[in-house]
Amino acid sequence: SSSKYIQYHGLLLPSAAHSMESLEFAQNFSVEDSDVFAVTYPKSGTIWMQEILPLLLNGGDLTPIHTIPNWDRAPWLEETRLAVVVDQLPSPRALVSHLPYHLMPPSFLASKAKVIYVMRNPKDVVVSSYYFHQMAGFLHDPGTFEEFMEKFLEGRVLFGKWTDHVKSWKHTELGDRIMYITYEEMVQDLPAALRRMSDFLGRNLSEEVIQKIAENCSFKTMKTNTMSNFSLIPKGLMDDNKSPFLRKGVVGDWKNHFTSEQLTRFKSVISKELENESFSLPWSLD
Ligand code: A3P
Repeated sequence: SSSKYIQYHGLLLPSAAHSMESLEFAQNFSVEDSDVFAVTYPKSGTIWMQEILPLLLNGGDLTPIHTIPNWDRAPWLEETRLAVVVDQLPSPRALVSHLPYHLMPPSFLASKAKVIYVMRNPKDVVVSSYYFHQMAGFLHDPGTFEEFMEKFLEGRVLFGKWTDHVKSWKHTELGDRIMYITYEEMVQDLPAALRRMSDFLGRNLSEEVIQKIAENCSFKTMKTNTMSNFSLIPKGLMDDNKSPFLRKGVVGDWKNHFTSEQLTRFKSVISKELENESFSLPWSLD
């Protein structure tokens, strides 16, 4: 049913998490210079960043990851929950967003707030999203993988087309306020990725703190932490028995799902949409 989604500037958003009020709240949100945003296309590592950012900003104090659910530690700018927790956020504030650049609030553009944009190989994004649609009761059933891939390529999915999202955040006027990182880089060497983020945020964290954050933000640790693994969400909204929210946490699971025809089609659509772009993707689509 269409009531599972709302339309916002041509984008599909789940009504379980967003409302016209929450989107208006986001537009009027007063961004502070010290705010830090992790921006992602859905299924690219958002909750991983919700785990990481608050720890980078608080110098590795683990208290919040044992006392506060991850979505409240670094709330989504555009979701209804922000209005509830905004006054409890420690400073500097960590936030996340799936919004495209042009829908960010005016106060963000006028501020000095920094952004970490996390990109994930779209082949793994579509697979992760497919399983997410199976387990999330507030989303439409994805149908077959073939059907879902078509929807994904046409942008008839949450927050629209992957290529539009990437283009939007690759063409900003943010200069050195934005840093790009990939999910793959984080999987390959999390301490190195954390060091790069910490430097960008001017945090100057010791190697000991970096290692501590890396251990506490690993897939394994998050999976066993009830404040981080989404097990607090009612089964009707997210059913871990169908597919866990923290599902695999690996690079390259697309190989277990794509037929060679699907790979050809996927590559041709994505590369066509990016062919006139000045940037290139950090991975090959092969
Ligand atoms: P998979 O479905 O491929 O396992 P998002 O938070 O943007 O919705 O992205 C979810 C994806 O990030 C899921 O991918 C999830 O397992 C993965 N993820 C979450 N935490 C992770 C971690 N600590 N390490 C690796 N992957 C993680």
